[in-house]
Amino acid sequence: MTRLEGKTALITGAARGIGRAFAQAYVREGARVAIADIDMDGARRTAAEIGDGALAVAMDVTDQDSIETAVAKTTASFGQIDILVNNAAIFTAAPIVEIERSDFDRAFSVNVAGTLFTLQAVARHMIENGVRGKIINMASQAGRRGEPLVAVYCATKAAIISLTQSAGLNLIGHGINVNAISPGVVDGEHWDGVDALIAKYEDKAPGRKKKEVGDAVPYGRMGTADDLTGMAVFLATSEADYIVAQTYNVDGGQWMS
Ligand SMILES: NC(=O)c1ccc[n+]([C@@H]2O[C@H](COP(=O)([O-])OP(=O)(O)OC[C@H]3O[C@@H](n4cnc5c(N)ncnc54)[C@H](O)[C@@H]3O)[C@@H](O)[C@H]2O)c1
Repeated sequence: MTRLEGKTALITGAARGIGRAFAQAYVREGARVAIADIDMDGARRTAAEIGDGALAVAMDVTDQDSIETAVAKTTASFGQIDILVNNAAIFTAAPIVEIERSDFDRAFSVNVAGTLFTLQAVARHMIENGVRGKIINMASQAGRRGEPLVAVYCATKAAIISLTQSAGLNLIGHGINVNAISPGVVDGEHWDGVDALIAKYEDKAPGRKKKEVGDAVPYGRMGTADDLTGMAVFLATSEADYIVAQTYNVDGGQWMS
């Protein structure tokens, strides 16, 4: 028995990494999924790999017209959206005295405004169509506490936890659950980039930072995207109906709250 039979999902940033793993898991559970990404080649590749049930959709979460077009394309193809995963994000790192305003603006535009206005567009669609939907935001352990070189990204992820609380409380009156997943360190292309960026500031050989963070995880290794799919599926099902405005750590024991 598949747990998301007949459901449709829009996942932002699903061309690769965690979003792609969520799309694969949702389709395995019987859902149809819009693979929405600014990287349209990657979105097409992922949709083709998944096959039936996956649709590549061009989407830039920093652009309001693009958000609305992506929602319209998804609903035109699938009828409605039952599940939204706000997964698209970018990473940035620098010591406080070197942070560039343009990096700050870009990170807040993608990670925070992108999440809020995609959530708003899909919530409007759900309310208008009487869909008692599920919205899942991607937070991070970075949003639970600061890091010396990662002030801006950490602040964007703290904002996601806060937005999840406010949107969760506001939208549950419409039967829409808003919750978040807070991963720890998840191996993949994202972390390859983090490793390279931090290595520059900490004067480490490539791969060294990844090894250190993996060794520090209580579970004993970095996470994989597949480690997160259980929570992503659960929060999208009716088993999670009574869960409102929460952020769940799925991080091998990195953070307790
Ligand atoms: N990898 C980790 O260790 C980790 C840890 C904690 C939280 N997270 C969060 O999980 C989510 C997924 O992470 P990931 O590791 O798969 O990242 P990733 O960098 O591999 O994938 C991000 C995806 O978002 C897309 N994207 C970027 N800007 C976009 C935009 N403006 N509009 C639409 N799409 C855009 C990219 O093209 C890419 O496909 C992110 O929210 C990230 O912050 C990741």
